[in-house]
Amino acid sequence: MLGPPSVKYRKEGEFAVLSISNPPVNVSSFEIRKGLIDHLDHVRKNGLKGVIIIGEGKCFIAGSDIKEFDKAIPPPELPDVINALEDLTCPVVAAIHGVALGGGLELALGCDYRIASTDTRLGLPEVSLGMIPGAGGTQRLTTLTGQAIAIRLITTGTPIDATEALEVGLIDDISRNDLLEDALALLSNTRLDKRITLNLPINQSDPEEIEKAERVALLKNGSRENVREAIRLIKKAGTRAAEELLDEERSVFQRLRSSSDAKALRYLFFSERQAATIENSLHINSKEVSSVAIIGAGTMGQGIARAFISHGFECTIVERNPHLLAKSMTEIKGSVKRRVERKRLTDQEAHTILQRLNGATDYQSISHCDLVIEAVFEELSLKIEVLENIEKHVDHQAIIASNTSYLDINEMGKHLKFPQRLVGLHFFNPADVMKLLEIIQTKQTSPQTVKTSLTLAKKLKKQPVIAQVSDGFIGNRIFAAYRHRAELLVLDGASPWQIDSIVKTLGFPMGPFEVADASGLDIAWAMRRNDPSICRDSIKYAPIADALCEKNRLGRKKNAGWYDYADGSLPGSKSKTVDLIIDQIRQSEGSIDYTITAETIANQLMITMLNASLWVLEDQVASRPSDIDVVMANGYGFPRWLGGPIYWALQQDAMFIQKELDELRRVTGPKYRIGNSCLIFGEGREN
Ligand code: 3HC
Ligand code: NAI
Repeated sequence: MLGPPSVKYRKEGEFAVLSISNPPVNVSSFEIRKGLIDHLDHVRKNGLKGVIIIGEGKCFIAGSDIKEFDKAIPPPELPDVINALEDLTCPVVAAIHGVALGGGLELALGCDYRIASTDTRLGLPEVSLGMIPGAGGTQRLTTLTGQAIAIRLITTGTPIDATEALEVGLIDDISRNDLLEDALALLSNTRLDKRITLNLPINQSDPEEIEKAERVALLKNGSRENVREAIRLIKKAGTRAAEELLDEERSVFQRLRSSSDAKALRYLFFSERQAATIENSLHINSKEVSSVAIIGAGTMGQGIARAFISHGFECTIVERNPHLLAKSMTEIKGSVKRRVERKRLTDQEAHTILQRLNGATDYQSISHCDLVIEAVFEELSLKIEVLENIEKHVDHQAIIASNTSYLDINEMGKHLKFPQRLVGLHFFNPADVMKLLEIIQTKQTSPQTVKTSLTLAKKLKKQPVIAQVSDGFIGNRIFAAYRHRAELLVLDGASPWQIDSIVKTLGFPMGPFEVADASGLDIAWAMRRNDPSICRDSIKYAPIADALCEKNRLGRKKNAGWYDYADGSLPGSKSKTVDLIIDQIRQSEGSIDYTITAETIANQLMITMLNASLWVLEDQVASRPSDIDVVMANGYGFPRWLGGPIYWALQQDAMFIQKELDELRRVTGPKYRIGNSCLIFGEGREN
């Protein structure tokens, strides 16, 4: 049973130790701020000689409690606590372990000294929540690290480890033994003086370095106001009175806290955590998984293997063709070595990772595995044969998974003796990089298999979302509808490059035609040929992609798709051949080529994603609307600051949604399925 949030006070000789207790991650909520203020007052009144602030449990402080951010923050606010720290006449040491993030790091920066355990990660992730640091982070961090490093740390929000924090001046020492003892030793042995961070001279960066850091940050996220504001405030550090700049930072923070970006990002933050859980699962135990086998060493098999070996799992990759196996093993080794060249891994780490990798051409070598994932060609009969073979070779407790993109995993389960251990683990390409993992529950998958898959996702640092079996599960189903609508827009007069450019203006990293070229046009082509119901009999159909495939324009892998890629170079260029193909098809389809506005393109593509999200909900492929948003934001580049297609729709006017759904129905034909918008808007907002 967890106790209420509290700050515990203990006297150690002439020092006070204040321990933050707010499990699981010690967020700085009202009770913690109030507790700190009260104890600091006690320290002042009793003339103690020093204070240590330390976190109980797994970390120091993970930041402000963002559940408080939808309303006025109840006082005392974090800047009040930091003022109280600075007003003390005795020194305060922050003893940090686990994480010090956001307001947690800002509180530490308001202390006079900082010591951190070797396992600590420190950072200011507020920009990823649509805000800027609001308790002095832009000023105190800049004072210590200089502007260039501050711009990098604050605009990416990426935490750094203790070694780097020491190098850049964020902390004063690293504790390699007992953190509290080391912090007490720091206070008592050295008799530290009071040292207010903002009274230190600013660690000026080289102007060229500042300019470079700013350029990189703006290139990546310059469209977001919070990023521009963070840079502006960092550059102002040291140029005016500190109080004035702290006030300015706080007022920008307060304004951005209520912005639409911040609300959407908070929604996603909690939705992502909810998606990673199953209700009432406390009594279900995850199975231990330490060794994994992957069948098929193609694009996905290799990526999945890279993901597992990088996160501590022993991994055997089975490929029937020995030449392909040797090639794949060499490629995996090469990719790990490239991470060493880019200084992402040390030689020793790379060595340890690669020692976890084994290759085989037969199934004998998988008998000890706790989990086996098939990643062979997308053919149901082949997959069934492979799964049956796996089952013959592993313990009856081992989990068996398919990485299929579209196929019926319920059907696969019918061929297993123990179908309760079969699950879909839908990784995305490249599997070691992409955050999303769709966990597909068949009619027979056991709750323990699902829970084990969720635990695995956490260990692999993936964002899991549970989906039921359906054609394309959650993400690919929505993406297929979106791509279809984009192709109809081309048929009606828009160009692929116009559409891609507008989609990027909305905040997607790539447009639908760039994505198609990157992943290859052949997979969707094969699907259309296998399932003619998607095509022209039922709904309006644009045969342009088929024509490209027939001309072997299969995307980047052929240096030609929707774009031309001369000698494989990126980005692709507009293609005259594609223009000609589009013209011919427009003529043969009797399509009237008219000018389509940017607004129509943007609205119709967004509404198509919403509409397909409604199918996913109606068919109970996703159990919560927010799971759909998590899928689209983590696997399909949906701009996080718009929250996802469903959250986005909920922010729009009902008339607008109605009008765009009507337009979608008009363009796609009467048989096109229009989802039931009551599912998200309630009965009052039927389409
Ligand atoms: N506010 C409220 N709740 C939070 C929280 C926060 N800042 N951080 C984590 N939580 C909650 C989660 O919702 C989750 O709750 P649940 O158990 O009910 O689902 C629980 O704490 C555990 O979180 P995780 O599942 O994420 O635990 P992990 O161990 O995987 O990760 C973490 C821990 C790295 C600390 C991660 O939770 C994290 O990154 N948290 C957010 C950190 C952050 O963004 N801090 C900045 C906040 S804004 C701020 O400080 C403003 C300041 O400038 C004034
Ligand atoms: P791929 O064609 O690159 O690789 C498949 C590999 O399986 C080949 O190396 C082949 O030799 C091997 N193989 C075939 N039968 C085998 C058997 N009986 N035993 C051992 N190995 C065998 O295919 P890719 O792209 O890796 O796809 C694999 C699966 O992952 C498919 O189901 C696909 O739908 C799915 N997927 C693919 C994604 C992608 O972007 N490529 C994304 C997500 C899922």
